[in-house]
Amino acid sequence: MSELRRTLVLVKPDGVRRGLVGQVLGRIETKGYHVVAAELRTAEPGLLAEHYAEHAGKPFVASLIEFMASGPVLAVVVEGYRVIEGVRALCGATDPTVAAPGSIRGDLAADTGAEAMENIVHASDSPQSADREIALWFPALG
Ligand code: RTP
Ligand code: MG
Repeated sequence: MSELRRTLVLVKPDGVRRGLVGQVLGRIETKGYHVVAAELRTAEPGLLAEHYAEHAGKPFVASLIEFMASGPVLAVVVEGYRVIEGVRALCGATDPTVAAPGSIRGDLAADTGAEAMENIVHASDSPQSADREIALWFPALG
């Protein structure tokens, strides 16, 4: 039996700039998950460095943080049974060029030539990441 869980989704600056917030949330809601918190904000580089702490020292991390701070993101907490793996499946593979058609990244993003891949959406990848990321972005919920 699975437990009701929460995950952190970010519609990244490319998704907000291109007007894809509704499509991303629509796919998540149509799947059967529920939005329990949402906030549009431009993230500080310090918050983004903490968010992406697992990637510290990798060659793309500086351009990733610059991209993620380049405009507002929509931070969303989504709830459902097996929601962490379910939303990751909706997002598709990290690289939008090869993400499966039918997935958010596969349908809505292409390589932009940027050093850090611009791929519309972030989703937590484990229960531990979800708890950590929700506490970071929504301290009142953590
Ligand atoms: P996310 O954390 O954003 O949900 O994406 P993910 O788990 O699918 O991918 P992850 O490996 O955690 O990478 C985080 C984000 O960094 C950018 N990236 N660029 N140029 C590159 O090789 C590269 N690798 C990763 C992407 O924006 C990716 O989503
Ligand atoms: Mg990740």
